[in-house]
Amino acid sequence: MSTTSPAGTADAAPPRGAPILQARGINVRFGGVAALTDADIQVAPGEIVGLIGPNGAGKTTLFDVVSGIRTPTSGSIVLNGVDITSRSATWRSRNGMRRTFQRQQTFGWLSVEENVLTALEWHGGGGGLLADLVAAPSRRRREQERRLRSREVMETCGITDVKDEPAGKLPIGRARMVELARAIVDRPKVLLLDEPTSGLEETETHNLGETVRRVRDDEGCSVVLVEHDVAFVMAMCDRIVVLNLGQVIATGSPDEVRSNPAVRAAYLG
Ligand SMILES: Nc1ncnc2c1ncn2[C@@H]1O[C@H](COP(=O)(O)OP(=O)(O)O)[C@@H](O)[C@H]1O
Ligand SMILES: [Mg+2]
Repeated sequence: MSTTSPAGTADAAPPRGAPILQARGINVRFGGVAALTDADIQVAPGEIVGLIGPNGAGKTTLFDVVSGIRTPTSGSIVLNGVDITSRSATWRSRNGMRRTFQRQQTFGWLSVEENVLTALEWHGGGGGLLADLVAAPSRRRREQERRLRSREVMETCGITDVKDEPAGKLPIGRARMVELARAIVDRPKVLLLDEPTSGLEETETHNLGETVRRVRDDEGCSVVLVEHDVAFVMAMCDRIVVLNLGQVIATGSPDEVRSNPAVRAAYLG
């Protein structure tokens, strides 16, 4: 029996207890390199899942396949019971899936607020004050909603004080929070974070963790987190998936994974 329905809307409520996200039997090859081999992951609604493994294990490649910027050699991605394997990255981002990248990516020449606003632009609005003056009332209302939501999220992410500064001028810790704000502002159902604490200091890592957890608690979104900071990932996550050489070698609670001999041999040492 399959829980997959033909591609349609991913908005309908899933069957009770059903995963919000599934990657099934994902294979990716780069020439002779098997970056992923039959990789499976499942994420429950509201769950925080950590994806760990040594460098080159295939974590980013799996995110690329899930978020739709890379087509797998075989396998499927299911969002909320709907097979979305053939859907574009843009479609996925507009239907509840948002991600951040391992290398920090903001629009450096735009202000922090504009960076956050553009993540909502597809809802309409945009064009700034002048456009507001000449615009129809419905458009003005959408623009106002967009601004309110952006301000709320900038507050959540602790970046209100730098909202008018160019994002490219910010130190890495603040820039990471701008990326997070962009990723959560459209209320995703699934949030994919690729090494979000990379380059952060201890307090910044702590703040980011608290913010991600608060978003999960308040908005009920699921989170998949790629992390090399093992202490952080063990403290944050409900469940951990371990990749090694493109294969899932273990899945379980942080304690189960920590004491798994195969994981210790491959990764934890
Ligand atoms: N664009 C690419 N072209 C060729 N090989 C790649 C490419 N991206 C990743 N790889 C290879 O695929 C494997 C998995 O890489 P990646 O997903 O980046 O791992 P991780 O994020 O776990 O460090 C590695 O062997 C890497 O060298
Ligand atoms: Mg990576």
